[in-house]
Amino acid sequence: MRKTLLVLVLVALAVFLALRSSREAAAAAVGDGPQFTADGKLVRPADYRRWIFVSSGFGMSYTQRPEDTQMFTNVFVKPAAYDYYLANGKWPDKTMFVLEIYGSTSKGSINKHGSYQKDFAGLDVEVKDEKRFADKWAYFNFEGDDQTASSIAPSQNACWKCHDQNAAVEHSFVQFYPELLKVAKSKNTIKPGVHLE
Ligand code: HEC
Repeated sequence: MRKTLLVLVLVALAVFLALRSSREAAAAAVGDGPQFTADGKLVRPADYRRWIFVSSGFGMSYTQRPEDTQMFTNVFVKPAAYDYYLANGKWPDKTMFVLEIYGSTSKGSINKHGSYQKDFAGLDVEVKDEKRFADKWAYFNFEGDDQTASSIAPSQNACWKCHDQNAAVEHSFVQFYPELLKVAKSKNTIKPGVHLE
């Protein structure tokens, strides 16, 4: 009797461990890089809020008119790409950035001065994929709760051009992310001719 019980416990344990390791393997595969649908659309990265928070912008006016609501932008990148960047001052293939956009307000609760983030306004995403995209970097916009997005066409569109010409490291605007700028300076990876000040 005791033996049967022991066998049952061991079987249950084995099943539990097998299930857990297959779940972990699936999670690792999903976490590896950008996911695309069969017809080439980028799948909305569901867990970007668990990535590394890079920095925020407030009311930056490269895409806005001064009379528009001042928007907040929050930038996130995957931990593996971040670690690579810290070591090399460059971005590995399959790097994905999310720029989360929020409207702002200054009126609410106990707030007397200053602004905070209020209404979600969309996600801009940038992916480095040297095989998939002829120009290495591609740009996507998820409105509302869109679950997939096509890369913005044509390949060297306004997003690509502004990032190509003005971003400090490859296509990333690290001149606006103080901690990442330090790394670029120490690794000497800032593109020649870019305005930092
Ligand atoms: C006129 C220049 C310009 C254009 C056009 C532009 N961006 Fe950017 N982008 C910036 C600047 C400046 C930042 C950094 C500041 C910030 O946080 O908003 C940035 C940041 C980003 C980031 C965060 C990672 C990074 O590269 O630093 C993403 C993602 C992004 N933009 C996507 C897009 C997409 C998608 C489009 C087109 C729909 C676009 N951008 C168009 C200037 C531009």
